[in-house]
Amino acid sequence: MKPKSQIVNLPVYQPGKPIEEVKRELGLEQVIKLASNENPYGSSPAVLEAITRELANVSLYPDGSAVELTGVLAKHLGVERSNIIFGCGSDEIIALITRAFFLPGDETVMADQTFSVYKSNADIEGAVTIEVPLKDGTHDLSSMLAQINDRTKVVWVCNPNNPTGTIISEQELTSFMDRVPAHVMVVLDEAYYEFVTDADYPQSISLLERYPNLVILRTFSKIYGLASLRIGYGIARPEVIDLINRVREPFNTSRFGQAAATAALLDQKFVQECAELNASERDFLQNEFTRLGLPYFASQGNFIMVDLDMPSKDAFQSLLKQGIIVRPGFQVYPTYIRVSVGTPEQNRAFVKALENTLAEKAITSP
Ligand SMILES: Cc1ncc(COP(=O)(O)O)c(C=O)c1O
Repeated sequence: MKPKSQIVNLPVYQPGKPIEEVKRELGLEQVIKLASNENPYGSSPAVLEAITRELANVSLYPDGSAVELTGVLAKHLGVERSNIIFGCGSDEIIALITRAFFLPGDETVMADQTFSVYKSNADIEGAVTIEVPLKDGTHDLSSMLAQINDRTKVVWVCNPNNPTGTIISEQELTSFMDRVPAHVMVVLDEAYYEFVTDADYPQSISLLERYPNLVILRTFSKIYGLASLRIGYGIARPEVIDLINRVREPFNTSRFGQAAATAALLDQKFVQECAELNASERDFLQNEFTRLGLPYFASQGNFIMVDLDMPSKDAFQSLLKQGIIVRPGFQVYPTYIRVSVGTPEQNRAFVKALENTLAEKAITSP
């Protein structure tokens, strides 16, 4: 057999251990997962009702063009239906963009520490990834601009950036977009849009009129709490949506996903409450890091990247033994962990465990 040469050495995704397995292996009664930036408050109660109603229809294919959900979302965002495409998570929209645009040897530009799915999909299509170092944990847009050439097809800007949580402002974005050549698509990944509280954050949808090469990604996995139902979306000019739609499978989102997303969108009170709780708990954690003398990147998301000044894998193991799962292993920041903002109770349990980890480190380090 002759697979595509570019996939032969691709790493296979290693999912985190399920909570139940961690409990069994370590003999723990309670395990708190703060590793995947999920919503610790679950989802709107209206979602359960919507899913229950859909149970009667499991034998029927979903609506391939998600007519009802598209209408509700278009109204919510103030765009036309033709501006929207849904995917099996925004992960799928990333894959569809690479599938529709990259030929082997094309170039794509992204930060050196950002959401890994951009590069893995570019690799699959044989595109060459140019990674531009973050500056103080933030996208360095002028250096990214300097890497664009005739072979560049797509630039990825994750805002807030996963894993650092930093944002670029509207002014920074527009001055970048003004300089990006028209043949280059800019994908602005706003998976954590609803958590942002900084007034300088771009109102990106209003920029679509000015920039025909802009694609915005958002998701129902984060603040809406629907990660398991796999539904995200892209917003762009109709001619761009049409191109991405050509490589989409006909039934790429499920009945449950569509029904849940529709119900979730109609409950903005839940979204608002979660955003407020996240902001105050994000402040709590950041203040605790300051108290403990730990450098961190000021975050606008529902996660924070903090420097523990020890190999992050060791910190991970120490926290795991205490029943807390966080995300270690960031290439550019080997002593940082990323922790999702949990409920008040979870965050206090995390801080207590973190203090034990730091005390252990103080004893063992020379
Ligand atoms: C920046 C960013 N983009 C996209 C995604 C994909 O989310 P989903 O496929 O669940 O919509 C994630 C998930 O963690 C993310 O952090």
